[in-house]
Amino acid sequence: MKKQWWKESVIYQIYPRSFMDSNGDGIGDIPGIISRLDYLKDLGVDVIWLSPVYKSPNDDNGYDISDYREIMDDFGTMSDWELLLKEMHDRGMKLIMDLVVNHSSDEHQWFVESRKSKDNPYRDYYIWRPGKDGKEPNNWESVFSGSAWQYDETTDEYYLHIFSKKQPDLNWENPKLRQEIYDMMKFWLDKGIDGFRMDVINFISKVDGLPDAPNPEGKPYASGSKFFMNGPKIHDYLQEMNREVLDHYQAMTVGEMPGARVDIAKLYTDEDRNEVNMIFQFEHVDLDSGPEGKWDLRPLKLTDLKNSFTKWQKGLEEIGWNSLYLNNHDQPRMVSRFGDDKKYRVESAKMLGTFLHMLKGTPYIYQGEEIGMTNVRFESIDDYKDIETLNMYIEKVHQNGEDPAKVMESIYVKGRDNARTPFQWDETEHGGFTSGKPWIQVNPNYKDINAKQAVEDPQSIYHYYRRLIQLRKEYPIIVYGNYDILLPEDENIYVYTRTFESQKLLVALNFTAEEQSFDVPAELHGKEAQILISNYETAKELTSTLSLKPYEAVVYHIQ
Ligand code: NOJ
Repeated sequence: MKKQWWKESVIYQIYPRSFMDSNGDGIGDIPGIISRLDYLKDLGVDVIWLSPVYKSPNDDNGYDISDYREIMDDFGTMSDWELLLKEMHDRGMKLIMDLVVNHSSDEHQWFVESRKSKDNPYRDYYIWRPGKDGKEPNNWESVFSGSAWQYDETTDEYYLHIFSKKQPDLNWENPKLRQEIYDMMKFWLDKGIDGFRMDVINFISKVDGLPDAPNPEGKPYASGSKFFMNGPKIHDYLQEMNREVLDHYQAMTVGEMPGARVDIAKLYTDEDRNEVNMIFQFEHVDLDSGPEGKWDLRPLKLTDLKNSFTKWQKGLEEIGWNSLYLNNHDQPRMVSRFGDDKKYRVESAKMLGTFLHMLKGTPYIYQGEEIGMTNVRFESIDDYKDIETLNMYIEKVHQNGEDPAKVMESIYVKGRDNARTPFQWDETEHGGFTSGKPWIQVNPNYKDINAKQAVEDPQSIYHYYRRLIQLRKEYPIIVYGNYDILLPEDENIYVYTRTFESQKLLVALNFTAEEQSFDVPAELHGKEAQILISNYETAKELTSTLSLKPYEAVVYHIQ
């Protein structure tokens, strides 16, 4: 396996709106980020992925871009951004920017032109179709509820929007559009950035003819995902993007790819194919969803989680590379979802961090994960800001008459705003995030859970994460060792090994609040074993039976 800097790195995601506000307007901004770079440097992260900071009307918090070459006023200016890059590089940290090119904002100049007339030079930058029998061109449902098509009176046609109606899909079939995107990518790379996280990049190629989705239940709209995920030209487009742009820079890429399975992920990340370095796949974050999708809650089985991770670890062992994440700005907080955010919050957050950082792949930390931030429960739907959540609530409660209490429960478990409450810096008002009124309320637990306290406490989750990151620098086995699972059928503990040359790691994790024990395989008995990290203080020898306290994690290095 080829050595690469991005395999050896730990990446930290910043959601700028919620990270740090410097000017009291209640919205996080770039100077705010700069003021906290030392905190991130001390944590030890190598790379920062910055969620979009481009000009945007904020229908989807910056994932709807109206100018790809300008900074959003709320966040600061281009010179603030340039200073951010410099300050990061001065500290030896790299910056990857979000590339959102499946769609733009409807306020982008291209779309403003495109909708003017059928023969406008920008018409084909987007996907326009006439209606069918007085209805939408097909039955696809938007990811954010309702039809994926919006009627536009001016030309009596519909445009496609897989996300909100203010996020029209760009037409990648058009070579001129592709060239515009490549030029824009060069604009940022020439400024010195170190790579891109590519938003839903496997949506950019759609199946010819945009056929109706199967709809056996006769619902108003149906998921067309199989016609727009991993479409027929996706590999061509990614390879072209490399030839035209990425090959000329030392950039890293991670493609967000819902619906990508291991076989196709191998194609995307095979180094010889030159597409992307790694992808964000969704299998493990879909395991607690029922057939109706993310809001259809169902309990997670540890064996399902193990099967999924094992499949990906083994599937990309020789060819390709994994990204490793348990939360981001679209997912609920990891400790609330997979751990225990009450009694064992600290133990379970450390256990989950151990789980992820000891796997083979590049780990991503989402802001606040390193201090164990938790999900939030706002009483009223009016306190929620996320367009996905709000559209879903309107559809289910106001249109379909579902029980609001039940819908709120699903928001508490799965809503994206769980991840978007302001970063909790200290115990002062609004968690020290802003001196004004935050755009979304801070989680009321900020007095107990905040960065100041975490930095001061050597036993905190934060210091544990520092150690996890440091270990990756010290032990090549953590980066390059191969993964194997032990006890795949066990519903309570997750045990795996990593193997590199003559060394092994044994990673033992208790996913429950009860004590557990297991038999260590005979081939590991009597070997010299050193504990690399553990979330309980009592160091224990590697004996033939190991017992694990609630949410205990322990990693042995065996030579
Ligand atoms: C994925 C992003 O992570 C999410 O936040 C956004 O809403 C959609 N793509 C649309 O850009």
